[in-house]
Amino acid sequence: MIDEGKLHTFIGQMLGDLGGASSVAMVRMGDRLGLYKALHEGGPVTSAALASRVKLDERYLREWLSHQAASGYLAYDPMVGTFALTPEQAMVFAIEDSPVYMMGGFDAAAAMLENQPKVQAAFKTGGGVAWGDQATCLFCAVARFFRPGYANHLVSHWLPALDGVMDKLERGAKVADVGCGHGWSTVLMAKAFPNSQFVGFDFHEGSIDDARAHARQHGTDGNTRFAVAKAKELPEKGFDLVTCFDCLHDMGDPAGAARHIRAALKPDGTWMVVEPMAGDRLEDNLNPVGRLFYAASTLVCVPTSKSQEVGAALGAQAGEQRLREVIGSAGFASVRRATETPFNMILEARA
Ligand SMILES: C[S@@+](CC[C@H](N)C(=O)[O-])C[C@H]1O[C@@H](n2cnc3c(N)ncnc32)[C@H](O)[C@@H]1O
Repeated sequence: MIDEGKLHTFIGQMLGDLGGASSVAMVRMGDRLGLYKALHEGGPVTSAALASRVKLDERYLREWLSHQAASGYLAYDPMVGTFALTPEQAMVFAIEDSPVYMMGGFDAAAAMLENQPKVQAAFKTGGGVAWGDQATCLFCAVARFFRPGYANHLVSHWLPALDGVMDKLERGAKVADVGCGHGWSTVLMAKAFPNSQFVGFDFHEGSIDDARAHARQHGTDGNTRFAVAKAKELPEKGFDLVTCFDCLHDMGDPAGAARHIRAALKPDGTWMVVEPMAGDRLEDNLNPVGRLFYAASTLVCVPTSKSQEVGAALGAQAGEQRLREVIGSAGFASVRRATETPFNMILEARA
């Protein structure tokens, strides 16, 4: 027997989901064409006035603006026919340094769609898809998605939550940022702690090139270096602090990486492991954050890990208990959750 009420509720959900999915291209066009920034800077505007301001075709713009209003992404005033970004919408779409800037999430959604054929094929073989063989825009999307969180929390909250690390960084510490990707976390720390030396490692050469460019752009070349290396083959030792941002679960052999990192730390060193927020049981993660991370995990993280030796495939929703097992297996004296945000948990492991 079909329950009509449940059916209507579910179809309502599907309408919302399809609307969200079809917004990915629309939102990215708004970003690439500079429309959100123009709306944020210029205030309420008709389609004709916006067309002359940004020098784009009015007909296309009117359709795009109408979609954005129907999506609740812009406010529309029917009395005067103007469209505007509210302050809250601007934080999500226009202000790159806001803690809730989400453009990277839309870029990541596009990258996941592009990954579909390769990952779909891997379901049949159980094989992996190497990080470097995934969607062309994946590396930039990931960097863009995580940067606002790091810019707003890393130096102000996460590092101070670690035991004694701020003093060392202010005096002058040696730090490795392992799995650094495009190096935003490395650059943010290097800027905040000019007396310390930072080296970013990642096994993906293209990302290391981008990280070097970011360090140059942000004037931190003086105390940052970047090198291509696997997490379990770091060519240096004697670190006061090792950081891993949203990458331990992507590694093929996270336990091997943990052992190597412990050996690369000074005896009183600290390993900061930033991982996606997740509960330990599937039923704890059946929520909007879990939904996003399980999709990313299926289409990006599990294939990345399975393409490497061991192929542990922890997944992006491993949960604290599983992460503590992996970290603890390397013989760290203590592991604790130092702090958290809705998207991340920050674990501190002491050598
Ligand atoms: C989700 S991205 C995170 C990048 C960066 N930490 C950030 O937060 O923007 C995962 C990163 O881990 C790197 N990675 C995966 N497995 C690795 C391994 N075994 N050794 C070194 N880097 C690895 C990938 O190249 C990628 O840059």
